Amino acid sequence: MNDEKPYAAAVSAHYGRPHLQEEILQALEQAGRSLSSYRDTMSFDQFHIRGAEATRELARLSGIAKGQALLDLGCGIGGASRLLAAEFGCHATGIDLMTEFIQTATALTTQVGLSDSVVFQQADMLSLPFAEHTFDVAWSQHTLMNIADKSRLLAQVRRVLKPGGLLVLYEIAQGPVTPVHYPVQWASDPSINFLLPATALVHLITAAGFDRLHWQDMTEACLQWFQAVVAKMKTRVQGAAPPIGLNLVIGPTTAEKARNTVRNLAEDRIHVFYGVFKKAGA
Ligand SMILES: C[S@@+](CC[C@H](N)C(=O)[O-])C[C@H]1O[C@@H](n2cnc3c(N)ncnc32)[C@H](O)[C@@H]1O
Repeated sequence: MNDEKPYAAAVSAHYGRPHLQEEILQALEQAGRSLSSYRDTMSFDQFHIRGAEATRELARLSGIAKGQALLDLGCGIGGASRLLAAEFGCHATGIDLMTEFIQTATALTTQVGLSDSVVFQQADMLSLPFAEHTFDVAWSQHTLMNIADKSRLLAQVRRVLKPGGLLVLYEIAQGPVTPVHYPVQWASDPSINFLLPATALVHLITAAGFDRLHWQDMTEACLQWFQAVVAKMKTRVQGAAPPIGLNLVIGPTTAEKARNTVRNLAEDRIHVFYGVFKKAGA
């Protein structure tokens, strides 16, 4: 199990951006970009490989539908929650350990007029502050690698899901070659990196009371996407204004982390998967 205080401090040391909201608004203003639709934040609010394309693909794969209650575990600044509410009609609740991510997610959501269908709350996904049988879907994109005690998380998710509810994943797994080159987007060093091999991850999920509906290796698509991102970074003119991209959330180490993720994917150190699981039993 994660030792809660040092763990929260380590997560905060890695993801922490105390002035995130102001910095995002300032960058948008400098770029002359207005904020009126959830689409206006999509270039920097999907904190996972392949961005909004992956979110839409996974939503279609898992059949996210109008009126469903969806819990976005480790929602970051809320990009997936907004997209899923706007395009698939669900009611999303995003939770994240980082207070500044939740504040930024809430402010962006208000600004783009989605507060009626998307809400956010600071919380640890290992102690979900929700009653049992609250959600139709538990959604997690690139968060499990920060969780040591995955069995505890899965028990929490199972508790808050309605009977037959879905656990929908887009996750990174440990490849056959170790270790991971650091820093990467989810960890500056091994202290908050808890990757499992894919077979072990699936075994843990099914042992926790979920039936596997779908499991798909997305590694090659992720590698190609990230190689293109890194190639584009290399063409940037020195001194040009920073792009309105994930660099706003990740900060000055964005390029180094992108290069490392490409190496990790290319060298079989990490693999990426879509997964859809159904809560078994009652
Ligand atoms: C790589 S980001 C992905 C964010 C988001 N899912 C997305 O795809 O845009 C991982 C997120 O998980 C959050 N996180 C890590 N451990 C957590 C925990 N125990 N409880 C809640 N959030 C956590 C981090 O703060 C971070 O926002």
